[in-house]
Amino acid sequence: IKGLPEYSQEEVAKHKTPDKGIWMTYKNGVYDVTSFMKAHPGGGKIWLAAGGSLEPFWALYAVHKSDEVFEILEEYRIGNYQDADKIKHKDLSDPFANDPYRHPALRVNSEKPFNAEPPPSLLVDSFVTPNELFFVRNHLPVPQCDMQNFKLRVEVPGKKTINLSMDNLKKNFKEHTIMATMQCAGNRRSQMSGYKTVKGLSWRYGAISTAEWTGVKLRDLLLQAGLTEEDEAKFAHIQFEGLDKDASGGHYGSSIPFSVAMNPFRDVLVAYKMNGTDIPADHGCPLRVIIPGNIGARSVKWLYKIVASDQESPSHWQQNDYKSFNPSVDFGQLDYKTAPAIQEYPVQSAICTPRDGSKVDVDEEKVTIKGYAWSGGGRGILRVDVSVDGGKEWHVAELQDAGQKISRVWAWTLWEAEIPIPKDHGGKLDICCKAIDSSHNVQPDTMKGIWNVRGLLNTAWHRIHVGVVQ
Ligand code: HEM
Ligand code: MTE
Repeated sequence: IKGLPEYSQEEVAKHKTPDKGIWMTYKNGVYDVTSFMKAHPGGGKIWLAAGGSLEPFWALYAVHKSDEVFEILEEYRIGNYQDADKIKHKDLSDPFANDPYRHPALRVNSEKPFNAEPPPSLLVDSFVTPNELFFVRNHLPVPQCDMQNFKLRVEVPGKKTINLSMDNLKKNFKEHTIMATMQCAGNRRSQMSGYKTVKGLSWRYGAISTAEWTGVKLRDLLLQAGLTEEDEAKFAHIQFEGLDKDASGGHYGSSIPFSVAMNPFRDVLVAYKMNGTDIPADHGCPLRVIIPGNIGARSVKWLYKIVASDQESPSHWQQNDYKSFNPSVDFGQLDYKTAPAIQEYPVQSAICTPRDGSKVDVDEEKVTIKGYAWSGGGRGILRVDVSVDGGKEWHVAELQDAGQKISRVWAWTLWEAEIPIPKDHGGKLDICCKAIDSSHNVQPDTMKGIWNVRGLLNTAWHRIHVGVVQ
């Protein structure tokens, strides 16, 4: 709209409290919705967009896609949103200067490198997580990719090395789309710390998200480079490298076993789309590997090189991180050579609503509990058990899954349970959940036996406490 002032994303982000005013953006518009906050028919969730864009939320809650809502919004327009590309007053000595814009609804665990998770209550509101709210796990600054000259290198020593432009990749290989959940091995680390201090980023239970990934099968690229099924003895590992590098020049990298990479039913992708759009900068633009069913660390972002090898990836993150130790091994005693790199994720579940520490009204008679469950290796979820009395009595939750083939269940299962508030609640509910996967693997009840100094793979029953008000 002509004549209205132009505001940058930085300026909008400063307005997220009642005293400064609450601003939001939608497409090209900037809106001051301070006076609408209390009137919002959808309740307090609107606060999540304070200082940021409305788009990802309106993609989740489709009720907003109506003329009536757009008319309400237009009443609050105060300006035009400046094209993000025009803002260039960056400190170029900062290696993170080129990191992209992030939505303020993400809860930041570390700014540089950027690590952040969506609010758990949003995760269960939609099967697929909007790109802007998908958790971000970066070890290094987001690298710049020279898109004009970019080529993916696929190397099978003694056979072929192929260099594929994005066009070539898209034109000459069959396209596949899979829905897959990504979970960081450090998800729920903060709760493990509550048991005994661990070392690592303090993730709550939002280091998990789900997207529809589109790309080509890794297997097809390897076949093109001359790899055959008979080559397993020679090339036990397929290594990946990302464009991001540390101060010593070491790239982020990982590797997976040959049998995982070459299995046509394992659906390992080299992806260029995330939920139907080009992969955003934080998630690996232009290409990333998707290894469904494995810990997120193996799904290398900003992928530029694939190599078949008799060795695992030499990268720090394959060799000296993302490995687990027994509970007696403490700081200073870690011998990474003795432990295998984690690949498939064990069975996991967590409660997303109600919020830990919130209150329910006894007059409601029931409490509705929602969460997610997921297991690695394509193992589906058979059942989720939920208790409101600390695990004395269990209820079976209703499950919603993506209808994927048994043994190729790459996406999570969302679940919901409506449980009567027990008469002897004593003023509080001790809510916990546990999932059972298709191999009948179960989650351990406490962290005692799985505690590890790096705080990885915390799959103990998720427990929260909720007050009951009379
Ligand atoms: C419902 C407007 C931002 C979450 C509604 C409704 C309106 C509205 C008019 C009622 C729709 C109906 O019942 O037909 C707006 C406006 C917004 C805004 C003008 C921005 C200024 C948000 C945000 C969120 C959100 C940022 C979430 C983070 C919801 C939810 C409902 C709702 C969950 C209830 C949906 C349901 O009952 O199915 N909003 N909204 N809204 N809104 Fe918003
Ligand atoms: N790839 C590169 N190149 N650099 C990284 O820092 N982080 C890994 C993995 N791939 C990482 C990477 C980790 S630990 C996880 S959990 C996932 O990416 C997170 O993916 P996301 O940021 O898209 O959620």
